[in-house]
Amino acid sequence: MIRVFAIGDVVGKTGVEFIRSVLPAFRRTEGVDLCVINGENAAVSNGITPDLCEELFVSGADVITTGNHVFRRKELYDYLDDNDFVLRPANFPGSTPGKGVCIVDKGRYRVGVVNLLGTVYMEPVGNPFAAAETALRELSDCSVILVDLHAEATSEKRAMGFFLDGKVSAVFGTHTHVPTADEQILPGGTGYITDLGMTGTEQSVLGVKPEIIIEKFRTNMPARFDFAEGDPMLCGCLFDIDEKTGTCQRVERICIR
Ligand code: FE2
Repeated sequence: MIRVFAIGDVVGKTGVEFIRSVLPAFRRTEGVDLCVINGENAAVSNGITPDLCEELFVSGADVITTGNHVFRRKELYDYLDDNDFVLRPANFPGSTPGKGVCIVDKGRYRVGVVNLLGTVYMEPVGNPFAAAETALRELSDCSVILVDLHAEATSEKRAMGFFLDGKVSAVFGTHTHVPTADEQILPGGTGYITDLGMTGTEQSVLGVKPEIIIEKFRTNMPARFDFAEGDPMLCGCLFDIDEKTGTCQRVERICIR
């Protein structure tokens, strides 16, 4: 059995520093074998920089996934091409920097990780379902496959869960920054949760200072989204997976404050 820890969107300095302070001990005490972190909001004004990726790797990330903000920071483009374990969604055009699939070789077993972007209420990109099928062909020699679908709509994420049920080990959603309470094992043996939630300042609106978002809703005027500062929380999910069959045996939602 292997234990995977998937962590939801890391927001700003608060999120990155909290990961650094709690993840190493959590990995040890919980016996985590592999950790996937969605890091696309780690930088100021969203996106992620190479330095922040390095910080998440040092803190215990094995793979960093992203989403709609992945190309916000130009300094990430070459890093995305050079680093196999920082992903951009696989359904972006092939001409964009980076790749959407990677393989972590653990010796006894290989773990494939796929990053996808939703299309409902989001900027247009390629079809994530078609991209998932292509990715699975690339990962045919991996016994464990994990999928991060970075998407707004719960329906799109649940549909992807059932679409991939029995074909991958776990499907987890990211992007909304709010954890859902539907962690479960689908009938075919795939671990699933619609959204992992956020790692950042708890008293915030999705990581941003509430007063900014209130003003935006009140006036409909554009505003700069400054991240809130305050007590942090980490949201994620543990998936216990049989590395021989690739089936998920147990799912546990995690929130560390
Ligand atoms: Fe996002």
